[in-house]
Amino acid sequence: MKSAPAPHFKNPRASHNFQGQTCSIAAVGSYLPERVLRNADLEKIVETSDEWIVTRTGIRERRIAAPEEATSDLAAKAARTALERAGVAAEQVDLIIVATITPDMGFPATACLVQQKLGAKRAAAFDLEAACSGFIYGLEVGQQFIMSRTYNTVLVIGAEKLTSIVNWQDRNTCVLFGDGAGAAVLQNRPNAHGLLTVRMGADGAKSNLIRMPGGGSLHPASMQTVVSRLHYLQMEGKEVFKNAVTAMCTAATEAMRRCEIDISQIKCIIPHQANRRIIDAVGERLGATPEQMFINLEKFGNTSAASVAIALDEAVSSGRLQRGDLVMLVAFGAGLTWGAAVIEW
Ligand code: ACO
Repeated sequence: MKSAPAPHFKNPRASHNFQGQTCSIAAVGSYLPERVLRNADLEKIVETSDEWIVTRTGIRERRIAAPEEATSDLAAKAARTALERAGVAAEQVDLIIVATITPDMGFPATACLVQQKLGAKRAAAFDLEAACSGFIYGLEVGQQFIMSRTYNTVLVIGAEKLTSIVNWQDRNTCVLFGDGAGAAVLQNRPNAHGLLTVRMGADGAKSNLIRMPGGGSLHPASMQTVVSRLHYLQMEGKEVFKNAVTAMCTAATEAMRRCEIDISQIKCIIPHQANRRIIDAVGERLGATPEQMFINLEKFGNTSAASVAIALDEAVSSGRLQRGDLVMLVAFGAGLTWGAAVIEW
């Protein structure tokens, strides 16, 4: 009998006492609202141009949720697709994690609303806030529950209705963002393909670079917070840009080091879809070829916590990613937060 070929990477799980367990991604799914907002439409709202937006960001259009559609609706639709593809019934889900910065409301958690919409009666549910890094943070949290054998099936969703917090009078930010959701079904599947490692980081000292100050305990909603437009997303674009490139490269390099692989072994790198120039700079610094970088931001803009999940779904659905390939997810966002994951797909 032939022995199995030696793996071409180190599995960091093997150094923990996980006894052949794997946190496998059984399936992914996504949902994008129907309405398309093109750069030409934005030209009618603020002083901007298709040419500026395309050359400075790479974005051509983004999706906008309907007024009656909330983040939980987008999340539930993405989750249903992922569950169906995984062949998992909603009643089998043990835990729902929703990564979002645009919850339906202050509380209860959007994850609880998703639980009800899916009919996932057995599932515990909570939200996770790590902005654009939220999906990667969610994968790590979900993985911990799987590997500790606390739960067998965890649904991780990144979902945003960012257009609900976009300041449509600020051309610096309103051209960048869109709505959408992506979901992954994590399962304990012994000796299967799955998550190899996740690295997470944060720097609260730079929390002022991207934020929405109004409506929390520091600036509770008042006439004054509304007049001062504190309930909208604010961003220091240039500073964010510089920090994003450095943090994403550091996280990706650390994740590869832990798996003892180099960039050439990764089939597909799925970065947070914020800005084409950030993605190009990260790819270049990591020594990746343009073919390795997955980019779909021209269609959807920056969907924060949903961005990596939506792109992962598209990479899988389009056949760009095959079972057994190594894929790296890498993201950066408000907090500041960042993260990178290596997955044997
Ligand atoms: N249309 C036309 N002109 C514009 C627009 C616009 N939409 N936006 C800004 N400008 C102008 C500015 O006013 C400025 O004009 P000035 O020179 O007369 O002052 C000029 O264009 C250049 O502005 P910069 O801010 O220097 O443009 P930059 O090249 O830095 O691009 C951008 C701005 C796209 C925001 C970029 O900095 C960026 O992508 N930053 C990172 C964003 C990001 O990654 N966010 C991720 C996290 S988001 C989250 O966590 C929710």
